[in-house]
Amino acid sequence: MSDRVYIQEVALRDGLQNEALFIPTADKVALVNALSLSGVSKIEVTSFTSPKAIPSLRDAEQLMQSLQRNPHVCYSALVPNVRGAERALTCAVDEMNLVLSASDSHGLANLRMTAAQSLIQFAEIVQLSQGHSVRLNASISTAFGCPFSGAVADVQLMRLIEQLLDLGLDGITLCDTTGMADPAQVAQLCQQVLQRWPEVPFTLHFHDTRGMGLANALSAWQVGVRYFDASLGGLGGCPYAPGASGNICTEDLVHMLQRMGIDTGVNLAALLDAASTLPELLQHPVPSALLKAGVADRRYPLPKAAQAKS
Ligand code: COA
Ligand code: ZN
Repeated sequence: MSDRVYIQEVALRDGLQNEALFIPTADKVALVNALSLSGVSKIEVTSFTSPKAIPSLRDAEQLMQSLQRNPHVCYSALVPNVRGAERALTCAVDEMNLVLSASDSHGLANLRMTAAQSLIQFAEIVQLSQGHSVRLNASISTAFGCPFSGAVADVQLMRLIEQLLDLGLDGITLCDTTGMADPAQVAQLCQQVLQRWPEVPFTLHFHDTRGMGLANALSAWQVGVRYFDASLGGLGGCPYAPGASGNICTEDLVHMLQRMGIDTGVNLAALLDAASTLPELLQHPVPSALLKAGVADRRYPLPKAAQAKS
């Protein structure tokens, strides 16, 4: 098991889908281009969803086609259905991130599909992608609990993962859509999936809705997870999940891992530069702790009154 941690940036998708303001495409391009040079391994650029459902990402094609792509970065986009996959393939995305919900109540609220209906769409998408060089990942929303129907049984989640892998998908992301997971639950579930499918790259996607986000990431890392979604500035949230709020913040996660001596390949200063543009762009403050406090190596001049008299 490699000790390198892979940071996958989701602010442009999970973050902006939850913003009322439409960010001009040129500003999104500038943000993706800056992130492309920061050392993150993947960027979820946008989503090919219905523009009526997610108006702030209605420029998906234009955005995808305007990027300066770094060959070391995987450019991914969220796809809910066959129509979304057709659109994504015209833009030569490196990865389609197929989204479905572990809980049918959230699936119906968010996508108007149960998990079984999503799987039918995905089977068709697998056919459609043949001959294209595109990676297929599945993101399972509400994997740690649903804000409508509560707990998701482990056996139900395992069965869903199995069905997704049987379709031939390349990776799986377990999403804690509304911050319901706790570190003990995360360790238990991650251990189970890593043991059962050691060859599959599992990503963990946490929201910090209840202040457990970084603790959950640490817990997942301790049992061997090496792929994490995180969002610049700590933006994020599903507009169709009540009470949803931001993802774990990329700069806070990278800072924590670097302090612990864990290699992320990310240039924290470059990340902070990009994050510092967000409050003006979005016209509101962002949750990032690091933007407020600076890195732990930050030092302040000792106040005059505290200086020893010579
Ligand atoms: N991209 C663009 N338009 C799409 C589309 C897609 N992927 N899928 C469907 N549409 C359009 C249809 O063409 C149709 O358009 P029309 O009204 O002009 O005829 C309309 O949307 C309704 O189509 P339908 O197949 O009935 O979809 P729906 O209304 O049941 O919506 C989804 C299903 C999945 C498209 C929609 O719920 C959605 O985009 N959800 C995304 C939610 C999301 O991103 N949440 C946050 C991420 S977790
Ligand atoms: Zn999310």
